[in-house]
Amino acid sequence: MKAKDIFIKNKDFSMEAADSLFAMALKASENSYAPYSNFHVGAALLTAEGEVFTGVNVENASYGATVCAERTAVFSAVAAGKRKFVAIAVASPDGKAYPCGMCRQVLSEFGKDIKIIVGLDAESIEITDVAEMLPKGFEL
Ligand code: THU
Repeated sequence: MKAKDIFIKNKDFSMEAADSLFAMALKASENSYAPYSNFHVGAALLTAEGEVFTGVNVENASYGATVCAERTAVFSAVAAGKRKFVAIAVASPDGKAYPCGMCRQVLSEFGKDIKIIVGLDAESIEITDVAEMLPKGFEL
């Protein structure tokens, strides 16, 4: 069964779906551009329609211009007209990566119940959500 089909079948978001999304994030990290930190991150964002948008961290010689994998994935999805997100997985072969504060705020814009899947590897996956990761986030 394709990952997309698994996601659509398991509307309540199963562990199988989390595993699959995490694997996609890890695969995406191969395209990470991280010559300065050498910390390669991939993200896989699942939309309500069952599509997956991936993202990687893109670093820059002017360090502050760096964009994290999570935001790359979100912006890519939004650019494609998607705004309803079910879950995002974040993975790195270089260590466990919880989304940074800025990425939590960006995710929060699109839903407090978006699941966040993080882990050191496929055997140690943790599922949390935006509400837990960013209590009392900024809202206009
Ligand atoms: N980074 C991400 O892409 N996502 C995270 O969740 C944590 C940090 C990136 C930013 C930078 O390119 C590198 O990891 C080291 O901070």
